[in-house]
Amino acid sequence: MRLTVWASACPVQSGRTTGIIMVEKGVVIAPANGKLGVLLVGLGAVSTTLVAGVEAIRRGIAKPVGSLTQMGTIRLGKRTDNRSPRIKDLVPLTELEDIVFGAWDIFPDNAFDAAMKAGVLEKDLLNQVSEQLGGLKPMPAVFEQNFVKRLTGTNVKSAANKMELAEKLMEDIARFKADNGLDRMVMVWAASTEIFLEETGVHGSIEAFEKGLYDNDPAIAPSMIYAYAAIRSGVPFANGAPNLTADIPALTKLAEERKVPICGKDFKTGQTLMKTILAPGLKSRMLGLDGWYSTNILGNRDGEVLDDPENFKTKEESKLSVLEHILQPEVYPDLYDHFSHVVRINYYPPRGDNKEGWDNIDIFGWLGYKMQIKIDFLCRDSILAAPLALDLALFLDLAQRAGMKGIQEWLSFYFKAPQTAPGLYPEHDIFIQLMKLKNTLRHMRGEDLITHLGLEYYD
Ligand SMILES: NC(=O)c1ccc[n+]([C@@H]2O[C@H](COP(=O)([O-])OP(=O)(O)OC[C@H]3O[C@@H](n4cnc5c(N)ncnc54)[C@H](O)[C@@H]3O)[C@@H](O)[C@H]2O)c1
Repeated sequence: MRLTVWASACPVQSGRTTGIIMVEKGVVIAPANGKLGVLLVGLGAVSTTLVAGVEAIRRGIAKPVGSLTQMGTIRLGKRTDNRSPRIKDLVPLTELEDIVFGAWDIFPDNAFDAAMKAGVLEKDLLNQVSEQLGGLKPMPAVFEQNFVKRLTGTNVKSAANKMELAEKLMEDIARFKADNGLDRMVMVWAASTEIFLEETGVHGSIEAFEKGLYDNDPAIAPSMIYAYAAIRSGVPFANGAPNLTADIPALTKLAEERKVPICGKDFKTGQTLMKTILAPGLKSRMLGLDGWYSTNILGNRDGEVLDDPENFKTKEESKLSVLEHILQPEVYPDLYDHFSHVVRINYYPPRGDNKEGWDNIDIFGWLGYKMQIKIDFLCRDSILAAPLALDLALFLDLAQRAGMKGIQEWLSFYFKAPQTAPGLYPEHDIFIQLMKLKNTLRHMRGEDLITHLGLEYYD
């Protein structure tokens, strides 16, 4: 949609929008007035790190490191123009002060207790934001043990069938909006990874899916019920886990019909982040790959869930897909044919959320001479994931206000297994993903897209 209206009184100087004025090009973006509800499915390590972090940042205790929406800038025009506003000053994003968090979890712990159990953030920091965290109590979840065998919770909804569960979620969403006087909402799945599912007939159309909800079809996972409830409620949905969830024709069609933006899957943090930074670099220099062995030790609840082979399979598929797409063995058979790619995750409780990921990369160069790269990333999983969840919530809300609907491929930057239109391979190269994201923002604002051609500087 390319129109002549643009929503912002002062687009480049001010992030807060106050009205709509006419400009030459760009898309219509409704202002970010009022409050945004961010509904988190799962109140575990990632969600509590996000909620506590946003509160700490609001109070000036900490900085939003890792968040593009809060810290990123965007170049506009020529390099000689010296125009590089902050992203949040180019597009109208919801201010952190205007976010209200809600959540569902199978455990009844409030966000303070859940954060203490997750053990990501220091007690001192949590104590400073204890009032806000203590006030966030999870609503009863939609849960089915078969999908996450390692967990058993009591804070769970019951109903005659899956459609009734979806209706209960829609009631939660409507109540949360009314109780908090919200203008808009988004939903982010930050709950446990479900067992591996393949697309079947029940996922193929909206009609089949809705019939499946009434019939309690076993191929409809809890995450799909949340996504369905979100889309039906007009609430944008992001999937931070590798579950199939909204990546099925039934829900992508529903999202388009209802004009709701969706995106997924699986936050790109830790080892896969490193992989999608390094692999494009190796390919750019035409260096070959014999093999990439990745292993992790992880001791949080996510690690415990992923210790079950059926849940790990979902994660493994997501983690394995990135190299094939970046390296394109079919285009470069001399460099990337038959490389070996192995990914392991071992549950090791002493490490908690502080994962250690090792990579051994066997590469070859000129005349086939072999070399090795070793990476030992002592990372903090939820510290890397929380800013992504924040950015996704804010960008999805922006997308909805800009009239964008269905799959938001420009948000691939945040995901290990980006959702794309049928028949389109996902773009995994983080640098291409970032360019795509920024060009989408430029497009929204009617700014020239940046190709990096730059010949004009030498004319
Ligand atoms: N931390 C990262 O770097 C990262 C990266 C990529 C993906 N992820 C994914 O994000 C998700 C959250 O990670 P985490 O470290 O916070 O895990 P976590 O185990 O700490 O939290 C997940 C929470 O979800 C709850 N839950 C499970 N099923 C639920 C349901 N049906 N409804 C509501 N709540 C439910 C659990 O009780 C738990 O409290 C996981 O799926 C993980 O694989 C995390």
